[in-house]
Amino acid sequence: MRIGILTGGGDAPGLNAVIRAVTKSLIRQCQAEVIGIEDGALGLIERRVRPLDWRAVSGILAAGGTILGTHNRCSPLGWQGRDWRDDIVAYARELGLDGLVAIGGDGTMAIAQLLHAHGLPTVGVPKTIDNDIVGVERSFGFDTAVHTVTEALDRIQTTGQSHGRVMLVETMGRNAGWIALEAGLAGGADVILLPEIDFDLAAVAAVCRQRQAAQRYTVICVAEGAKPRGGAQVVQRRVADSPEPVRLGGIAHGLQAALEPLLDTEVRATVLGHVQRGGTPTPADRVLATLYGSAAADLVREGAWGTMVGLQQGAITRLSLAQAAGRTRPVPLDHPLLLAARRIGISLGEG
Ligand code: F6P
Repeated sequence: MRIGILTGGGDAPGLNAVIRAVTKSLIRQCQAEVIGIEDGALGLIERRVRPLDWRAVSGILAAGGTILGTHNRCSPLGWQGRDWRDDIVAYARELGLDGLVAIGGDGTMAIAQLLHAHGLPTVGVPKTIDNDIVGVERSFGFDTAVHTVTEALDRIQTTGQSHGRVMLVETMGRNAGWIALEAGLAGGADVILLPEIDFDLAAVAAVCRQRQAAQRYTVICVAEGAKPRGGAQVVQRRVADSPEPVRLGGIAHGLQAALEPLLDTEVRATVLGHVQRGGTPTPADRVLATLYGSAAADLVREGAWGTMVGLQQGAITRLSLAQAAGRTRPVPLDHPLLLAARRIGISLGEG
């Protein structure tokens, strides 16, 4: 058996742990040959691959990023204005691939589904720091991102406290608020603003004023996708050739400018950005990535093509690629963490 493996979309801590687990499981259980495809679907178009043997995947468990490289602009449908599906399937046949393991987010699952439907048997492994994949209650990379943001909030708090300032910390997460919510709770934020709940500027200013009178400082954890009631998300850039061109970012600076005239306090903004995607995965992410990788190898062994690994109530599940492709999972408005936040007096920016 010969299996290709690729990582697509933005990187996330734990990708190498998955590559290692898939490769080792397939070598041990099926004596498979594993072929690493470089830079996601782009490697299938540009014909860039390399063999992955036991040695190639040893010692990579704790490394951030992906040893294969990744790409979040290339889609087989439309890259450089062409449909590459026939070329990719022909190349996979030339390589003698029996199937493909695609590790990525909703965009990569959509690509996986396209290739699968076009004759390249594919299974998927969900990945994203955003934790927003349908059918996956915890994606690897998320825990590491939450740790990074929590540490940043801890540091921001001491300087905010010393100067009596309002401190804004902006997290990633696209249209889902999972990172801001969990890190905001873990880092003791006073206000948590999520894409799922449009915030009321006057309500946020009122919290800052109350805290100014009592504690002198306020920490606000704001997700990049959050927006004011009646307002729009802040778009940082548009990546023209990307299947999903919008890149969010900058709401913290917008909020700083809007809040400062309403307060007697200085307001400072920190945008954490890609620091949330880098670095070594936490132990929890290494374990989850290993679990997902070995489960994906099971799907390959069973010939369960067209499916991906999922996680529900702590147990590994499988779902069809089509179920996850191009869809995301926002924080439900009745989520227990939202209720807990409100109960302990954290503002969610509601008026
Ligand atoms: O999906 C992961 C993610 O880090 C998002 O949280 C963020 O909006 C986006 O990717 C940033 O993408 P890029 O690396 O292209 O700037």
